[in-house]
Amino acid sequence: MTRLIIDTDPGIDDAIALFLALASPELDVAGLTTVFGNVTTEVATRNALTLLDIAGRADIPVAPGAAAPLAMNYLGAIPHIHGEDGLGDGGELAQPSRRAVDVSAAEFLCREAAGATILAVGPLTNLALALRLRPDLDTLVEQVVVMGGNALGPGNATPAAEANMMNDPEAADVVFGARWPVTMVGLDVTHQVVLPGPGIDAVTTGDTPAARLLRQAIPLYRDFLAKVNGLDGIYLHDPSAVAYLLDPGLFRTERWPVRVETQGISRGKTWPSLGGTDDAAPSAWQGRPLVTVCVDVDAPRVLDLITTRLS
Ligand code: RIB
Ligand code: CA
Repeated sequence: MTRLIIDTDPGIDDAIALFLALASPELDVAGLTTVFGNVTTEVATRNALTLLDIAGRADIPVAPGAAAPLAMNYLGAIPHIHGEDGLGDGGELAQPSRRAVDVSAAEFLCREAAGATILAVGPLTNLALALRLRPDLDTLVEQVVVMGGNALGPGNATPAAEANMMNDPEAADVVFGARWPVTMVGLDVTHQVVLPGPGIDAVTTGDTPAARLLRQAIPLYRDFLAKVNGLDGIYLHDPSAVAYLLDPGLFRTERWPVRVETQGISRGKTWPSLGGTDDAAPSAWQGRPLVTVCVDVDAPRVLDLITTRLS
C-alpha cells in the first residue's frame, strides 16, 4: 500500500482525483495539503475538508498551504472554470465538520512525507517551501507525482504554459531540480484522457454523497470545455495522475531533465532536454536530474480504470 499525501487546489478535477484515490485500496491517503490555484488557499482548504466529510474520511488531516507563489502575486482564481466555490457552483456546500490542522502545508510535508509519495495536483509552492524548511526532504520522500506541465505540446493557461506550472514557475523549477524521483503527468497525456458524456453519467449517477457532489460540480467545467475547446466531456487532468500511481504501465514515459521557464511570455513552460544538443555548449539543463515524463497514454484503459473505481 502506498502512503500518499495529496497537495491540491480543489477544484473539480481535484475532487474527482481525491474520490478516486480514496476508492483505491492500493493507496493510503495520509493527508491533504492545500494550495492556491483554481481557488484561493482558503477556499481550497474549506473544500478539502468538505470533500473528506463527503467521502466519510474526516480522519484524514488537512494542512493549509501557502497563499501565494514564491516570487509573484497569486494570479487569481478561475471561477469561470471551477466556480466561485471551486466545486462548480452547483448547489449549497455543507460547512466542514472540523478545522484544518494548525501546521502549514510545508511543515506537514516535512513531518509526514518521509517514506511517502507526494501527489501534487496544484501549483508546487508548498513542496518548494518544504524543501526550504527541510533541505534533506528530497532524499527521504519516496516519489513525487506531479499533474502539470506540457513537454511536447501547447499549454492550457497560455499557449506556452500549463496552469499549475504557470501559477508558480519558480517553485516548479525547484521541484524538478531536487533529488526526489519526479514523474510529470502533463497535458501531453491528460489532454487525451477525456471523460465523455456517458462516462460522466457513470460517475455522477447514484445516491452516494460523492456522486451527488460530482453531479453538482461537473456541469460548469463541462460547459466551459464545450465552449472553449469544443469538447464533449471533461479532461481528467488530476485523476490521470492518480491513475499513474495505480497503473503506471498505462503510460509511456521518457526520462529527460526538465527546466521551467521563469521569464517572459513563456513563463511556466516546462522545457525538457530531449538530447541531441551540443553537450559542449553551456546549458541550464546540465547537471539537472532526470524526470520521468509521461509522453503517451492508453486513454481508454485509464478512463475504464477511473470510471470503474468511481461508479
Ligand atoms: O492544468 C490542469 C491543472 O490545473 C489541474 O490540476 C486543474 O485542477 C488545475 O489545477
Ligand atoms: Ca488541481
